[in-house]
Amino acid sequence: QPVVCTSVAEMREVLETRVAQGVTSVGLFPTMGALHDGHLRIAQTAREENQLVVVSVFVNPLQFGPNEDFDSYPRQLEQDVAGLSASGVDIVFAPSTEEMYPGGVPVVSVTSGQAGSVLEGATRPGHFDGALTVVNKLFTIIQPGPGVEFRAYFGEKDAQQLLLMQRMVRDFNHRVQIRPVPIVRSEQGLALSSRNQYLTTDDAAHALVLNHTLRSLAAGELTLDQARGRIDAEPSVKLDYLVTVDPDTLAEIQPRAGALALAAAWVGPTRLIDNMKI
Ligand code: PAJ
Repeated sequence: QPVVCTSVAEMREVLETRVAQGVTSVGLFPTMGALHDGHLRIAQTAREENQLVVVSVFVNPLQFGPNEDFDSYPRQLEQDVAGLSASGVDIVFAPSTEEMYPGGVPVVSVTSGQAGSVLEGATRPGHFDGALTVVNKLFTIIQPGPGVEFRAYFGEKDAQQLLLMQRMVRDFNHRVQIRPVPIVRSEQGLALSSRNQYLTTDDAAHALVLNHTLRSLAAGELTLDQARGRIDAEPSVKLDYLVTVDPDTLAEIQPRAGALALAAAWVGPTRLIDNMKI
């Protein structure tokens, strides 16, 4: 059973004790809970690579827009802890909103600039500033100190988020190594997401067009326009964007080997994203 810490002080105390006992590597996996097999796969990767594994579960209000699903986002801590227990996680850090943001919206926060205002950021203003701000806090709360390897795990499913986390680490000299983890998919190919819970069975089937189209695009079977047309032809799926970008800068480039194809679409009221290397 993992130790569940709900306060920053408790989290630091448990961590300090374990480091004093000789732990030389710590893996942090930040999540918003509602954990699925993709999350658990990442937790297991962290388990294999570190002596101590911390998973944070925190639905971060700062990264949700006013019309987004903060209130309805699934919260199921007990179930999450059970899954993490089976994955061998040592510590679950599950603070309240009050604990993370005493006094409400923080006065000083992280901004993501241009790289955070395109693609996902264009549709979700402030989203990446919020995600970076909370992860910045997690890095300072869980930083195990000198002489201890500190690794943080992020899924490639959220490619823009992963890139921004890498930028933040560089820009702020965080003493942490970012470990990207490949996308975990359903047997049919749908990228696993906590938001898939919102999909009806029909919508989940229709949503597969995202994965299928990305696959054809990555295989060079479709041009970008043909690929967009294929998604547009699926009536219950409304394409937000389908682009190919330079994976290091997110600048749009023509589809070619090494480029990253990024897609976002609405399936009913649910926004889904997916991506694939070409
Ligand atoms: P959340 O959506 O819970 O995702 C937590 C981590 O799991 C992210 O790094 C995400 O990329 C990864 N992940 C989710 N589904 C995945 C899949 N199918 N395959 C691979 N990785 C997957 O992303 C967030 O939370 C938040 O923005 C957070 C970083 C925790 C900051 O609040």
